Amino acid sequence: MKIALLGLGTVGRGVVEVINENKESIAKRAGQEVEIKYILDIRDFEGDPISTLVVKDFEIIVSDEEVEIVVEAMGGVEPAYTFAKASLSKGKSFVTSNKELVALHGAELLETARKNKVNFLFEASVGGGIPIIRPLNQSLTADEIYEITGILNGTTNFILTQMKEKGSAFEEVLKEAQALGYAEKNPEADVEGHDACRKIAILSSLAFGEHVNYQDIPTEGITKVTKEDMFYAESMGYVIKLLATCQKQDDSIFARVSPMLIPLTHPLAMVNDVFNAIFVKGNVIGEVMFYGRGAGKLPTASAVVADVVDAAKHKGTNIISFWNREKIELKDKGQVKATYFVRLEKNAESIAQRVKEVFGEVEEVKPLEGEYAFITQTETEIHFAQRLERVSDFKVISKIRIEK
Ligand code: HSE
Repeated sequence: MKIALLGLGTVGRGVVEVINENKESIAKRAGQEVEIKYILDIRDFEGDPISTLVVKDFEIIVSDEEVEIVVEAMGGVEPAYTFAKASLSKGKSFVTSNKELVALHGAELLETARKNKVNFLFEASVGGGIPIIRPLNQSLTADEIYEITGILNGTTNFILTQMKEKGSAFEEVLKEAQALGYAEKNPEADVEGHDACRKIAILSSLAFGEHVNYQDIPTEGITKVTKEDMFYAESMGYVIKLLATCQKQDDSIFARVSPMLIPLTHPLAMVNDVFNAIFVKGNVIGEVMFYGRGAGKLPTASAVVADVVDAAKHKGTNIISFWNREKIELKDKGQVKATYFVRLEKNAESIAQRVKEVFGEVEEVKPLEGEYAFITQTETEIHFAQRLERVSDFKVISKIRIEK
């Protein structure tokens, strides 16, 4: 079977490596040999053995009937979307690791694939090498999924782990993460939570069967988390993680990306460094957790090539995916309930009394010098915001949601 690869960056190189390295076992599993016929890239790669495969015009690929699967590893919405649409419409399966593309156009591209009896596969777009898309689509289909909560971004998990272990500040560890090549070109996508937001939008859409618009998901990153917050977390027996979650409660669905204080006994608490983990709850299976390397050349390429094998095995048939174009209205973020850990600047002795008057019974936390710290009762976000406003004469040093 002939395939074409779009983009020879880190993931693209990984795909070439995996296909060469595991040629025989891949051939056995796919039922035929898988061969890269073209690589689309703007560079020439002179002197590199793969340079003979490089083309610069996508038309060559899409018009070649021998090419049955197109693999995209370029990233970004365009031209990936145009290439995906054109490939599927021409009866070629399309495999991608591109979460921006999938989060925005997943439902539509799945529909195009269905109409053309080919497949649009994107296992590598969430959790890198961790199998999560296929389990949601094919293994957990007897269940009604009511929650998915995960650590979906390796860079921020690495930063938070280092801050905790070394007592370092955010900016310091971010530089280290960039030097190690973990952070995306633009670190904002990672540290502001946008990357995790797209990933949870994809997982929620698959879990609930309708389109969750990633722009509707309230998203907070980790840029405001300080080493003092880490200190408090440790003293309370908690750890801070950037969690992405979607939950079905009664008839509504809410989703969120935010830093959370979770107890050390929580299954996601020991997921450290660049590792990702996804915790799924279903009404029949109970709880399942998926853990592994959420980024990196070979783990991501492993998921991409597994999709190529799946596409080869399902030639001529569409693997049904439960994600239609109908948009889900997410629950109003103000109506979602949360419990907060709050640090206030203690500029008056009366602070404890004031907090009690405004917030009711709170759990006091042993504070750092010059601070008053407490954990609120669980209530809606809007009520919490209103109460915080009423103590605005005390400066808020930080507020982080806490899972009790
Ligand atoms: N920047 C992403 C991460 C890469 O850190 O998890 C994988 O999507």
